[in-house]
Amino acid sequence: MPIANKPILYYAIESVVAAGILDIGMIVGDTEAEIRAAVGDGSRWGARVTYIRQSAPLGLAHAVKEAQAYLDGSPFVMYLGDNLVPEGIKGFVDQFEKGRPDALILLSRVQAPERFGVAELRDGQVIGLEEKPQKPKSDLALVGVYLFTSRVFDAVHAISPSARGELEITDAIEWLLRDGARVEPHVIEGWWKDTGRLEDMLEANRIVLDGLEPCVKGTVDASSKLIGKVVVEDGARIVNSTVRGPAIIGAQTRIENSYIGPFTSIYYGVEIIGSEIEHSIVLENSRIIDVAVKIEDSLIGKDVVIRRTDAMPRALRFMLGDHSEVELT
Ligand code: G1P
Repeated sequence: MPIANKPILYYAIESVVAAGILDIGMIVGDTEAEIRAAVGDGSRWGARVTYIRQSAPLGLAHAVKEAQAYLDGSPFVMYLGDNLVPEGIKGFVDQFEKGRPDALILLSRVQAPERFGVAELRDGQVIGLEEKPQKPKSDLALVGVYLFTSRVFDAVHAISPSARGELEITDAIEWLLRDGARVEPHVIEGWWKDTGRLEDMLEANRIVLDGLEPCVKGTVDASSKLIGKVVVEDGARIVNSTVRGPAIIGAQTRIENSYIGPFTSIYYGVEIIGSEIEHSIVLENSRIIDVAVKIEDSLIGKDVVIRRTDAMPRALRFMLGDHSEVELT
């Protein structure tokens, strides 16, 4: 899933590399082939990526166990690939190297802590951790970025599976605490995690688009206007249209006689003609043609076609995949 026209996993790799970590063990499961195709050997980022196939999806602490030989005793960052940390992790890695605690955890205040691992702090110290508690003791969620020394292996070998049948990394950290290990917290802002809801996707897209540097590589004709932060990628063509940023228009995409509003990411190979869209994400190779009403707050998948037609009878015609949602006015 791209956020501001870039696969979410790339942000994770970039932040790890920006923190000076170039050896990346990528834990993969069923989607190994797709991940290998997208990431390769990591040389694009100057990194060395080693793929570690998890024998079964038995939890994050299980993944750590299976990476033990690869990690070979060195301290490491564990980064969950669906987490977006806009401020990066360099500060966090530096703090770890300075203080050398046994574990450093990243926390963020959230509205629904029961959907996450939750930490309880007293006087700035971690005093307890719970995975998806029914009655959270705080609103501090565990962000999916952790720093560990090899002491974590004692924990991942000692804990038992949770109610959902997984070896929880949260339980491993709680075990470390009880074992007298030093677990340091670091509270951040603006973190985002994929929970599969449309509003979360749009929010992540908003956060990233906001930090965009404007840049035009494609072509914009004289009767078009780009307002605010707009990125026009290679080979994109904007004809007689207005794009109001922050927005990104993907490679080989054509925007004609249209309005693209703020917080919109249009991926590659898309055609938007005679239409208006804002606060939305459009994936590759879709076409939006002569739609008379403005489209907003939407996620349009790959190869989707939305078009006005004069064909009789005048009716709405759909071909919608599973879990689609359409709101009509
Ligand atoms: C996992 C962790 C949870 C953490 C979350 C962050 O949850 O178990 O403690 O808060 O990642 O992304 P899961 O994605 O397994 O639901």
